[in-house]
Amino acid sequence: MPNTSRILPDDGIRTAIRAVRRNETSDADWLAFEARLATELPRLTSLFHSIYGNTADGELLQLVLDAAVSWQDRPADLKAMDAEHAAAPDWFQSNRMLGGVCYVDLYAGNLAGLRERIPYFRELGLTYLHLMPLFRAPEENSDGGYAVSSYRDVNPALGSMDDLAVLARELRENGIALVVDFIFNHTSNEHEWARKAVAGDPEYQDFYWIFPDRSMPDAYERTVREIFPDDHPGSFVQLDDGRWIWATFHSFQWDLNYRNPKVFRAMAGEMLYLANQGVGIVRMDAVAFIWKQLGTACESLPEAHLLLQAFNAVCRLAAPSLLFKSEAIVHPDEVVEYIHPGECQLSYNPLQMALIWNSLATREVSLLAQALERRHAIPEGTAWVNYVRSHDDIGWTFSDEDAAELGINGQDHRRFLNAFFVNRFPGSFARGVPFQDNPRTGDCRISGTTASLAGLEADHGAAVARILLAHSIILSTGGIPLLYLGDEVGQLNDYSYLGDPAKADDSRWVGRPAYPADRYASRKDPATDAGAIAAGLGRLLEVRRQTPEFAGGKLVPFHTNNPHVLGYQRPGAADGADSVVVVLANFADTPQEVSAGTLQGLPAGARELISGTTVPLRGGVALEPYGVRWFRARGK
Ligand code: GLC
Ligand code: GLC
Repeated sequence: MPNTSRILPDDGIRTAIRAVRRNETSDADWLAFEARLATELPRLTSLFHSIYGNTADGELLQLVLDAAVSWQDRPADLKAMDAEHAAAPDWFQSNRMLGGVCYVDLYAGNLAGLRERIPYFRELGLTYLHLMPLFRAPEENSDGGYAVSSYRDVNPALGSMDDLAVLARELRENGIALVVDFIFNHTSNEHEWARKAVAGDPEYQDFYWIFPDRSMPDAYERTVREIFPDDHPGSFVQLDDGRWIWATFHSFQWDLNYRNPKVFRAMAGEMLYLANQGVGIVRMDAVAFIWKQLGTACESLPEAHLLLQAFNAVCRLAAPSLLFKSEAIVHPDEVVEYIHPGECQLSYNPLQMALIWNSLATREVSLLAQALERRHAIPEGTAWVNYVRSHDDIGWTFSDEDAAELGINGQDHRRFLNAFFVNRFPGSFARGVPFQDNPRTGDCRISGTTASLAGLEADHGAAVARILLAHSIILSTGGIPLLYLGDEVGQLNDYSYLGDPAKADDSRWVGRPAYPADRYASRKDPATDAGAIAAGLGRLLEVRRQTPEFAGGKLVPFHTNNPHVLGYQRPGAADGADSVVVVLANFADTPQEVSAGTLQGLPAGARELISGTTVPLRGGVALEPYGVRWFRARGK
């Protein structure tokens, strides 16, 4: 164990920490904290030294004291959950895990309304509920809540922080973990820190990146990419007094300066506060952007990882069961760098998401099969969050080198995909809307709901089958599947954002419709689209819950020898015997076959789990357009 005494004299720190112990704290509770301190303090110390040199030891000591206080504040039921998860650390690898995501206001009006939807969440089988940002935020435009004015206040239109804590408890009692965003790269321009910075308070000026003139902004912008060029060019916006402030996203979202250890400590405090309200998983927003270094892209720098690891260590001390989900929608080589038990245990899987859509457009599976083969494996103790689409745009973040191996030119192919998904390609079934179309760089991304992108809006006959196929992939590749709530009844694009000046410039709103009440009302009627999707998906969800091979993330490729049919195997055990589920998924709009020769290694007959029938494999398998099969090939 590294010697911490150099920076924090053992006696000194022990005395300081003991001084914050409260009389009512039990010995067991206190000893548990000290035991975690023994492993986490050396880690935190060495991370702090790598990031800040030894200039920040005072801040580090304060941070550890904050953690000791926060642990003592932690409600007993959350400590019980900490203990439960410590005893079963792979709880989130279960094949019963299922995520859902929604906006509180759009889906249920407010937090009270959301509580009333819990019976439906149970019906669906959710175990994870991500509520989109629900904090106090600027009224007119807050980037859907991603500009936070106070991390300790819920947006009053939705309810209060107490309501959130009550909801978290109720969800927990129903087996559902509450997930909220930790938007730590930036605050809104209305946050108290931001107001003080603008007013010239030197302590808070150092919380942000503020420059007197364009010289430094120009220097940084030589190497930094534009994220929201429709909002403002580059990464800086001008303050009323003429100074320039770093704003990667919208002009009202100001990047925090993590070179200042006080910022780290302040944000760690906000994170622990949220953890103690009963949040089980935090979605670490915009992780790639948190560290800036002149002359670099200012994305995914080594210090970004050290900072995340330091946040992780703080959690282990004071809210030990809190998990991090990384939101890194970047090149696949960079996405995986965030995934580690000591950093983010969970991560969006943007590559799989994008390649599902790619396969639907091209009717070919080579890129997706390659991604599953070489980019699916992640460290023990971590899991992908697999999704068909999120509240954001779809970006084509595959690796150009991977594509080149398959004879695909990345840039040309992205151009095709953008044209296809905005219906500028003959025969396209998709009704997406371009996002941040940048003629200068040729960059463009796609907005839309699953159903509209899959052809339901264009009234394309096969849309329901496509929607089910896309979901079947996220349900069976391994990790936590995440549904965008409303997509399970086929909600369509909502163009009403065009009439709202605060939203009209941000096409992502097309994919964020209000609760589709009519569709939910008809979800039990299989003669309707909503009913057909709900029934089909309901069956897949039910089978997934009963299929232990779908737990964890282990996946073995299965070559189907058919360019339209994706194949993979999920080894595991069922009924006490080794077993494997072989998945076949046809991305073509025509019937396809997997030949007898290809299936040779499998037994003569196999249980097909979705239909619940035994199917002879000797003669090969015929798949209808967009057909999916889950064969249990061994085991009982
Ligand atoms: C994330 C969010 C996105 C938001 C951005 C800035 O990428 O998903 O909606 O605009 O962060 O906070
Ligand atoms: C993320 C992504 C970017 C995306 C943005 C908002 O931070 O890196 O590609 O478009 O959020 O949607």
